[in-house]
Amino acid sequence: MIFQALGARYGFGAAVKHAFARGTEADSEKLRQALVKRYGGEAVLYQKGRAALAAAVRLATNGQGGKVAISGLTCYSVVQAVEAADCTPVFVDIRESDLQFGAKELEAAIKKHADIKAVVVQNMLGIPADIAAIQKLADKTGIVIIEDLAHSAGAQYADGREVGTVGDITMLSFGRDKAIDSVNGGALVVRNHKNPLAFPVIMPSSSWQFRDHIYPLIAWLTRVLYPVKLGRYVMGASIKAGLVVRSADGEVDETLCLPHWQAKLAHEQVTSLTTAAVRRRQKAQEYQALLKYLLPNGMGQVGEAPVRVPLVVDNRDEVVSHLGTRGVQVNDIWYDVPVSPQRFYDRVHYPVGECPNAVRIAAKLVNLPTHGRISNADIEYISKLVREVARV
Ligand SMILES: Cc1ncc(COP(=O)(O)O)c(C=O)c1O
Repeated sequence: MIFQALGARYGFGAAVKHAFARGTEADSEKLRQALVKRYGGEAVLYQKGRAALAAAVRLATNGQGGKVAISGLTCYSVVQAVEAADCTPVFVDIRESDLQFGAKELEAAIKKHADIKAVVVQNMLGIPADIAAIQKLADKTGIVIIEDLAHSAGAQYADGREVGTVGDITMLSFGRDKAIDSVNGGALVVRNHKNPLAFPVIMPSSSWQFRDHIYPLIAWLTRVLYPVKLGRYVMGASIKAGLVVRSADGEVDETLCLPHWQAKLAHEQVTSLTTAAVRRRQKAQEYQALLKYLLPNGMGQVGEAPVRVPLVVDNRDEVVSHLGTRGVQVNDIWYDVPVSPQRFYDRVHYPVGECPNAVRIAAKLVNLPTHGRISNADIEYISKLVREVARV
């Protein structure tokens, strides 16, 4: 079977390596140095990306609260992070061409909310945002740019600059299925700060770390048992027993640091980020060749590093189920409601009328996998199944 999520990038060997990974303070230092070399400034490691994002928002707003522009199509943890920094999110509608806002949409939001202090540039699914125009607008209005690389680490903007090297502040997530994946983790990179940065010093509990160690093995078992209908029970029972915490369920805790062994795993991936980005782009190009009319803006363009390839279809449920019954699990969708997951959507008071594109597109999105264990033959098979049922 082919999986998009559920730890799909980990084969059995990688899951065992992850379970027994060890690290020392030197590994955390190596990761920090690698981030500084790549992005400049100073780097701080966190237990989760959302804590790094909250710290980023706090810095961008000088700890005084205020409004922060974020994508109208995003995940709940971004909202959580903004709120944890005592700020209010302003959802900016997206455009269909690249599933994120450009300068025009941001400018409209600024006209409406003149007091926006910062903007989170999400680089949706690894598609680089239109940064040059956004930067021009930010310079004109004094808004601070926070580059969010959760999906896009390793990608480049259209003008050749690497994502994460443009704004004053960059954040990364090393969470499950992200561009860099050590099951949990995050980093803040600050290039321009007046006051010394705060470094979290508390290690996550040993039970938390145990959970992070064994997640790829539980996910592997879930995938192996999926075809005989037992996989769901393995994952369900693991969640019930507290052995797995769903990724959206985590809190924002800026006091927790990244365990050294996870820093070691993240560092390995930072080292090979450019190669991994090129591979993802090549996979997107394969999908593009086979599914052109279903993709937003010609995927696989120079600079992209799609962590998933988005399809926009009228009959999402049918497509997901057609693929599911033929051995391709794509039911984990970023993002099937404007602020995902669905179970937290009601908490958000989403301005449906202000973001009509995000609302419409969220109902039509399907994501296709580009991780390291997807072959060209897989892409051909997936694309054939999509073509059999997809309607636009
Ligand atoms: C765009 C984006 N930014 C930030 C985050 C937060 O990352 P983390 O899950 O590591 O807290 C996520 C994922 O949850 C995300 O999708």
